[in-house]
Amino acid sequence: MRTDTGQVFKLEDYRPNDYLIPQTNLTFRLSPDATRVTAVLTVERRDGASVSAPLVLDGDGLTLKRIEIDGKKVKPADLLATPDQLTILKPPAARRFQLLIETEVAPAGNEALMGLYRSSHVYCTQCEAEGFRRITYFLDRPDILSVYTVRIEALRDEAPLLLSNGNPVDKGDLGDGWHYAMWHDPFPKPSYLFALVAGNLGQLADSFVTLSGRTVELGIYVEPGKEKLAGYAMDALKRSMKWDEEAFGREYDLDVFNIVAVSDFNMGAMENKGLNIFNDKYVLADRETATDADFANIEAIIAHEYFHNWTGNRITCRDWFQLCLKEGLTVFRDHEFSADQRSRAVKRIAEVRTLRAHQFPEDQGPLAHPVRPRRYREINNFYTATVYEKGSEVVRMIRTILGADVFRAGMDLYFERHDGDAATIEDFIKVFEDASGRDLSQFALWYHQAGTPNLTISSTHNPAAQEFTLEIEQSVPPTPSESRKRLMHIPLAFGLIGAGGKPVEYSGVEGASVEDGVIHVRKRRHVVRFSGVTERPAVSLNRGFSAPVTLSVEQKADDQFFLARHDSDAFSRWQAFNTLLTDALIAAFREILGGKQPAFAARLTELAGSIAGDEMLEPAYRALALALPGEADIARDIGRNIDPDAIYAAREALALAIGTANRDAFSGLYGGLADKAAFSPDAASAGRRALRNTLLDCLALQPGGAALAAGHFQSATNMTDRAAALAVLAHRHHGSPEAIKALAAFETIYGSDPLVMDKWFQIQASVPGPQTVDTVRALTSHPAFSMGNPNRVRSLIGTFSSANQTGFHRADGEGYWFFAQTVLEVEKRNPQVAARLATALRSWRSLEPLRQAKAREALLSIAGAENLSADLRDIVERTLA
Ligand code: PHE
Ligand code: ZN
Repeated sequence: MRTDTGQVFKLEDYRPNDYLIPQTNLTFRLSPDATRVTAVLTVERRDGASVSAPLVLDGDGLTLKRIEIDGKKVKPADLLATPDQLTILKPPAARRFQLLIETEVAPAGNEALMGLYRSSHVYCTQCEAEGFRRITYFLDRPDILSVYTVRIEALRDEAPLLLSNGNPVDKGDLGDGWHYAMWHDPFPKPSYLFALVAGNLGQLADSFVTLSGRTVELGIYVEPGKEKLAGYAMDALKRSMKWDEEAFGREYDLDVFNIVAVSDFNMGAMENKGLNIFNDKYVLADRETATDADFANIEAIIAHEYFHNWTGNRITCRDWFQLCLKEGLTVFRDHEFSADQRSRAVKRIAEVRTLRAHQFPEDQGPLAHPVRPRRYREINNFYTATVYEKGSEVVRMIRTILGADVFRAGMDLYFERHDGDAATIEDFIKVFEDASGRDLSQFALWYHQAGTPNLTISSTHNPAAQEFTLEIEQSVPPTPSESRKRLMHIPLAFGLIGAGGKPVEYSGVEGASVEDGVIHVRKRRHVVRFSGVTERPAVSLNRGFSAPVTLSVEQKADDQFFLARHDSDAFSRWQAFNTLLTDALIAAFREILGGKQPAFAARLTELAGSIAGDEMLEPAYRALALALPGEADIARDIGRNIDPDAIYAAREALALAIGTANRDAFSGLYGGLADKAAFSPDAASAGRRALRNTLLDCLALQPGGAALAAGHFQSATNMTDRAAALAVLAHRHHGSPEAIKALAAFETIYGSDPLVMDKWFQIQASVPGPQTVDTVRALTSHPAFSMGNPNRVRSLIGTFSSANQTGFHRADGEGYWFFAQTVLEVEKRNPQVAARLATALRSWRSLEPLRQAKAREALLSIAGAENLSADLRDIVERTLA
């Protein structure tokens, strides 16, 4: 592990390196404890660089075995070699020379899962962001593009399959049980996109004919025997390839495209050129082992990594400050893909829920940073919801502002102008300015300024003057190291809605530029006057979630009820009902804190019933509407002095009230939704299961609820229904004979399937209440659990700390102590996973004072531990600052 130097990297310090590496030839002789890596690099001095400039290569824990320049040994006096850096003090005077470097690495002991490591005996690599320097000394930065040729040598028995980037060019036998394969990737790429896989894997093969008629061989490699479980991923891959041709005109460029699933992986998946490496959780699926959410994630992540081939690989990032250039844009592309493959409205609601659950708290707490940050200590900690999800929202706003056609013209220009480049956000914005002729400089603040903007909006109607007025005021709250903010350009989509849900016409508008149903908010305050408005409209705001902002709207409850029934924008209709639920929950929270029993308006519980039963609406939409705001969502909206127990009580009370008011209707609906046809993971079938399972959750609090859920569990014919019933039993009927029996049955059936056992861990880690910390602690000794596997750690520890408000925030601080100890234990093996876990306490300042003090102590105990990694120190120190 690299030592923490405390160094801060700054965007303004960027300058190109004095050297380039146009060609990289790598030879790997694989063995678990001593793999030899021979790199032969063609090094070229950049035009204008001084002949005496030393060549400084990055390393991370490397052992140098041999070094030659142009075939001659380099004298020790001409070198400075440490595990973390290799300096060639006096490179040859010639502009180009050949540098040979031999290093030795130990994949078997690599538990950080960066560089070359082994996962269930399969050799694999992970190089983004700075893992390549754990393999060989290199200019390990994304603006160094090189053409790679790779030779892999291995024992045939140990590794019959040998894969790398690009196209296969040669293979053969070496005697003594060894064999080799060679791969060549004609597209220059940065080192973070390098990949190698070697091992014994099963293959699912298929092919795809591109737009121009070329045949691409597709392979998905999995643990032998699991090939059938890759069928859905393969289908998603082919649909992604087709979609990128149709939606963006992007064709695949190599003869092969391979995907490998591994069981130990720090993130979701990685877009290495021609050789994507995946967390197996996002490849393997069938109805017996995967939920509908798993299927949807697989589809989205397969698409995401494939789309990176153009947005990330063909056009890459100049430096890591530009991470959102590839990530925000590629998330936008995968969102659009899923919207086209599934239901656009449902997809949009789900995206916004994710953004609010993950990005808003980040933007509103100590870890806030701009979509394009200006400084970092550890780049691994910037693979965040802000860079990814808010980054995607920013691209979506560009499309909203320019319109779909001009946006597409801008994208075409981006590909044309920057293919083969390591580009910047400025380059990206410029193509849209050039394609549209508009000035996007104020808009660009979305990349540069952290924090969630707020719009305060009020409206008045003057019937005599036939004028409807919207007063809109923007503010951007201060964030760490950015106390003063500039005014932003916020595209606010809106609708004026009259009786019966019809749009209200207006004859003119002044006070802001309004185009195609979008108000362009650019100033601190706008008074937008619509003339010729005869009836008082209800106003639908931020339609389709056109901007990632919070709204403070003075809106009559009657209007909110009206919009929840009549808004023609599905997202905003969902939002209106969700706002009503949130308002009711916050009021109930206050009543509970004041020692009162909360009560809910009959028209609210009735509306829940009518949405649930509205056959005009998609079942998936009805399920999303009925799912109450989560405890963390409610906490975020309350903002400060949070008592998670009171929030939990409020939410339970509302669920009970809705179920009680609609018991018979919900039972009838529930009965009618049972799967009749054969299982299919498609969106419509998944939507029916989602609605049925949401109804089950509601009915579970009613008399006979435990028996109903137990029956649901026993009769389930797929994992979606089985896991949903188990969660209902474990959460709503904790400790009941039905819950105990179901948990045991699940363990018996799936005990040897790690990915399914993750669900079992998750369900138990999220059981509300003070006892769960003990359950979780005990489960760390379960034979299916391992502190070394990121999926296991995230399922048990991650779920407990980020998805169990009452358990984790136990009033006596026990949850925090367990958490602090566990984070430090994980860190010894895997700093990256530990640092991510540690972000669970980022909102600690919004807790009530007693919990706040205990959370702070736990954070301080992490900060005070010896030899902290750069990853964890960075998170903990920023969280406490
Ligand atoms: N680049 C990957 C993606 O988003 C994420 C990733 C980052 C994976 C770092 C591994 C390491 O597609
Ligand atoms: Zn990505």
